[in-house]
Amino acid sequence: MKELKSKINKNALPKHVAIIMDGNGRWAKSRGEERTYGHRNGIQAVRDVVYACQEIQIPYLTLYTFSTENWKRPQDEVATLMQLLAETLTEEADDLYTKGLRLRIIGDINKMPPIVKEQLYHIMDLTRNNTGGNLILALNYGAQAEIIQAVQSIAKDVKNGELNIEDIDHSLFEDHLYTKDIPPVDLMIRTSGEVRISNFLLWQIAYAELQFLDILWPDFTKKDFFNCIIQYQEKERRYGKISEQIEAKKA
Ligand code: IPE
Ligand code: IPE
Ligand code: MG
Repeated sequence: MKELKSKINKNALPKHVAIIMDGNGRWAKSRGEERTYGHRNGIQAVRDVVYACQEIQIPYLTLYTFSTENWKRPQDEVATLMQLLAETLTEEADDLYTKGLRLRIIGDINKMPPIVKEQLYHIMDLTRNNTGGNLILALNYGAQAEIIQAVQSIAKDVKNGELNIEDIDHSLFEDHLYTKDIPPVDLMIRTSGEVRISNFLLWQIAYAELQFLDILWPDFTKKDFFNCIIQYQEKERRYGKISEQIEAKKA
């Protein structure tokens, strides 16, 4: 592990990593267990990645935890996921605080069960002055819903005469997203072998590097995460320019 970590260039780290933690159900099924067994076993992978991120000082980590579409799953699975979330938040609150992490949420948490909401508000408040990294949970999150609420809020400001249409630009739009004050995603990882975005951070991944891994989420380890970072650092991010321009700027 030490050797792997030494391959990571500390000066070229992604600022923001976002992960679609997928494959819990299949992991459980392949063991002849219920899907929820997979969700339980995915929690250790969450812990590992949160602290691996902090260890190499990546300041923003966003985890896709529950999508706006996940409500459509069987009711007992949704209930178990909510219960697991409440339990895990209770268990992890002190650790998040003492390790200096700040918890943030993107998504509409008003629709979450009261017990989950209370825990979330409690931990967000507890960790609000922490500066050792941002853990962002995407909960009842959908990128399309996020964009629609941004448009509604901008339209309202225009209607009230507080905003001119000409002043709607990139930066103003970003200020109306859940991710206001959070930098764009540099690296997006999805486990489970599926190659799709599933309504995650559509605006914010405009120039992200995308990695799709054939690993089911409960099997994802710190080593896998470090390998993702190493692979990310091998890419040249051109942002529309050509390679020679990027090289010239480096020199
Ligand atoms: C990801 O694993 C966890 C959540 C979406 C909450 P899945 O539950 O989607 O697992 P698969 O994709 O069915 O294997
Ligand atoms: C995406 O996974 C949502 C989360 C990881 C929370 P899904 O398993 O819900 O995605 P689809 O339905 O396979 O696209
Ligand atoms: Mg899935």
